[in-house]
Amino acid sequence: MKCLIGDGVSVDILRDDLTCLDIIEQKLSTVGREDSDDAFYIVDLADILLKHKKWVSLLPRVEPFYAMKCNNDPIILKMLTGLGIGFDCASKTEMQTMLGMGVSPSKIVYANPCKQASHIRFSAKHGISLMTFDNEMELHKIKELYPTARLLLRIRTDDSKSLCQLGIKYGAPLKQCRHLLKVAHDLKLNVIGVSFHVGSGCYDASAFGTAVSAARSVFDLGAHIGYNFTLLDIGGGFPGAPDAAITFEEVCGILNPLLEEHFPASSGVRIIAEPGRYYSASAFTLVVNVLARRTVKGSQFKQDDKSVKAAGHKDSDKQGFMYYVNDGVYGSFNCLVFDHATVTPEVFGTDEKAEKFPSSIWGPTCDSLDCITKNVLLPKVDVGEWLYFRNMGAYTCSAASTFNGFNKPLKYYTIAHSCWPMLKKVLEKIGLDVHLPCHVSMDQKNPFNTGSEFMEILASAK
Ligand SMILES: Cc1ncc(COP(=O)(O)O)c(C=O)c1O
Repeated sequence: MKCLIGDGVSVDILRDDLTCLDIIEQKLSTVGREDSDDAFYIVDLADILLKHKKWVSLLPRVEPFYAMKCNNDPIILKMLTGLGIGFDCASKTEMQTMLGMGVSPSKIVYANPCKQASHIRFSAKHGISLMTFDNEMELHKIKELYPTARLLLRIRTDDSKSLCQLGIKYGAPLKQCRHLLKVAHDLKLNVIGVSFHVGSGCYDASAFGTAVSAARSVFDLGAHIGYNFTLLDIGGGFPGAPDAAITFEEVCGILNPLLEEHFPASSGVRIIAEPGRYYSASAFTLVVNVLARRTVKGSQFKQDDKSVKAAGHKDSDKQGFMYYVNDGVYGSFNCLVFDHATVTPEVFGTDEKAEKFPSSIWGPTCDSLDCITKNVLLPKVDVGEWLYFRNMGAYTCSAASTFNGFNKPLKYYTIAHSCWPMLKKVLEKIGLDVHLPCHVSMDQKNPFNTGSEFMEILASAK
């Protein structure tokens, strides 16, 4: 069953008991398009709705401002807008996109500590007043271009337990904070709080705790200099996929008591965050077609590969295969380079017990750097068959190129039947036209308890 939303995007409404594999199978059997071997994404919109529900219930004091750089898919942005959350924008184009979707300027944090002058002018013109800084020059620039902006001092925190360490580029070392706040005060700038980012792909939940304590010390410094800070921005770094090294629950277990200790609700300090991958990572499954296969000697694969050893072969005994697929490092798999990601290929329609061979998987471009994985054990796959990769929603399509003329994968949006009523409500909240198939009842049982709990979440969205 399909429905159309907005300007004609179609969403498949699927039975709740369908697995990811069932959905891929359904898609492969129904695609009637000419290039039916193109790579595609299955986008599970229910996954994002449920993530939001989890956020609201486990981190109730923290308002999420989605970091749209992570995945700027328009349907996702619209859905998150309908949920009432805010947005972390890094540039004029991102701010323009969100204003164009009807997002209030007050729901945007311009979270780029080093901003282009014309982009600051844009934010001033449109009243996007909340922005971060981490250096003295930026303060002078802001004084000139947007003197009434509300500023957050981005501090550097320990990001050594994160895959993407942002501290080498951004964040004021704690030693410099006194000086920066003095300069801001002398310039009569309106610093209203502190922000930090523990690093993206954080794999030690305690990093959030250390950062909150550091932020508290900078709040105290601010008070000393004459400010009364009222906003704490705890950044991103929240895990988004089930195979992440830490869980969202662990992070909340560290954050909630420390926020209560250092920034109790009675202090009146507002707390926001800039989650990216938390919302989008697990909602996207990428399905790619094997366009070519080359048979090679097993000895070509590294001797020390653990998975080969675990399977009990000496690689020299075996044949191996090089597979060429129609998305790669210049496309969705740019996450291997920019996001320090690791990906796990799975073969669609394979027998679990099938013999496995040392294999490598390559993208479609003519560049030898375009390698998805150099050594993995896979059953033998024929040309024309499909591989799939789960958890491909973060820092994939938003940074993909069409290098060598390979298009970005198509997207098929899906929603579980029980979550459809929520999606409809969320989209209608932002005035999107939704064409519902007549036999979907709005009263269906759903994970938000027939919608009332979910409507409370919507109503509480500021
Ligand atoms: C300023 C800022 N905020 C938020 C994020 C989102 O981080 P994550 O996807 O780890 O939540 C990033 C990612 O680079 C960032 O640079």
